[in-house]
Amino acid sequence: MKAAVVDHRGAVPVYREVADPVAAQGEAILRVEAVAVENVDRAIVAGQHYTSAPFQAALPAIPCFDGIGRTPGGTLVGFGGLEPPRGALAEYVVVTEGHWAPIPEGIAPEIAAVMSSAITGMSMRTAAELKPGETVLVQGATGVAGRLAVQIARLLGAGRVVATGRDAAALASLAELGADAVITTDVADDDLVRAYRDAAGDGYDVVVDFLWGRPTHLLCESLIPETFALGTPTRLVQVGESAGETFEIPARALRTSGLEIYGAARNLMAGMAEAYGQVVEWVRAGDLVIDVTTMPLSTIAEAWQRTDLRGSRLVIVPDAPVR
Ligand SMILES: NC(=O)c1ccc[n+]([C@@H]2O[C@H](COP(=O)([O-])OP(=O)(O)OC[C@H]3O[C@@H](n4cnc5c(N)ncnc54)[C@H](OP(=O)(O)O)[C@@H]3O)[C@@H](O)[C@H]2O)c1
Repeated sequence: MKAAVVDHRGAVPVYREVADPVAAQGEAILRVEAVAVENVDRAIVAGQHYTSAPFQAALPAIPCFDGIGRTPGGTLVGFGGLEPPRGALAEYVVVTEGHWAPIPEGIAPEIAAVMSSAITGMSMRTAAELKPGETVLVQGATGVAGRLAVQIARLLGAGRVVATGRDAAALASLAELGADAVITTDVADDDLVRAYRDAAGDGYDVVVDFLWGRPTHLLCESLIPETFALGTPTRLVQVGESAGETFEIPARALRTSGLEIYGAARNLMAGMAEAYGQVVEWVRAGDLVIDVTTMPLSTIAEAWQRTDLRGSRLVIVPDAPVR
């Protein structure tokens, strides 16, 4: 079969022939229909992710470890649990029974492949327990997950949605998705702190943070009250780190602002089924729009290096023969 193979750390995957997968007892061979390529996949290949070690140790290896496939019986399923060197960017994968689940009717494979990024946005409810009418700040709203989070905030009944990004045109397009105000993070530190304060209204109840690093450090600064009054509570959900792996939290920001920080995984397993069902319902109804760019597996080298897909998720579609 054909697959995308990484030969050495940080290499661009190459489309080439590899050995056909063989299923053992308790496994099945699925025909791959769609695989989303995310920042995390590129970071693993580059050796820059906390899960990179097993991948680097298994080189040459096939990247991406979940996707959408078809069982031998013809059922469209989401699969996961793959381990290096056998990733999902291939025509066929071997999957252990129990590591796949049917995709609901009416959801196309390339959309199903990106649903996990929408589930991430649901962390504003599962982790931060967003209530209707509250104010939501989406940090990194011009990216794929951020654009979904803006829509989800609106669909969950947020009273006000504020969105941050760097690109003026991309920020302007967020109004159509439901953002009430936008903030450009590409400004001097003091200006950004002021912009966070000016857009906060009565305060940010929930922050969905895809950035971390400098913008989130300055957001924390902006939450410090300018008088001896105590700040209003803000529940910040840590989801991504596009702007940095770390930042310093000023002690006074925690002491005075009422800031609470949660990981996106908080309550995720308990809330996953409901969150997934809700996302499916919105997608089917056309209320939640997931922007994807599909490319064939044979173009993986070109696809992997694309940097022009702002706000649209790259999805590889192998189009393998049915066996
Ligand atoms: N935990 C999960 O399950 C999960 C799921 C999906 C994503 N994530 C994480 O969430 C983050 C965003 O993912 P994504 O798929 O939406 O990525 P993406 O489409 O590449 O978007 C990245 C976002 O971050 C902004 N950004 C990038 N570098 C920046 C910098 N140095 N300073 C300020 N802003 C910067 C981008 O702004 P521009 O538009 O100006 O470039 C864009 O808004 C990533 O860290 C990803 O790993 C986590």
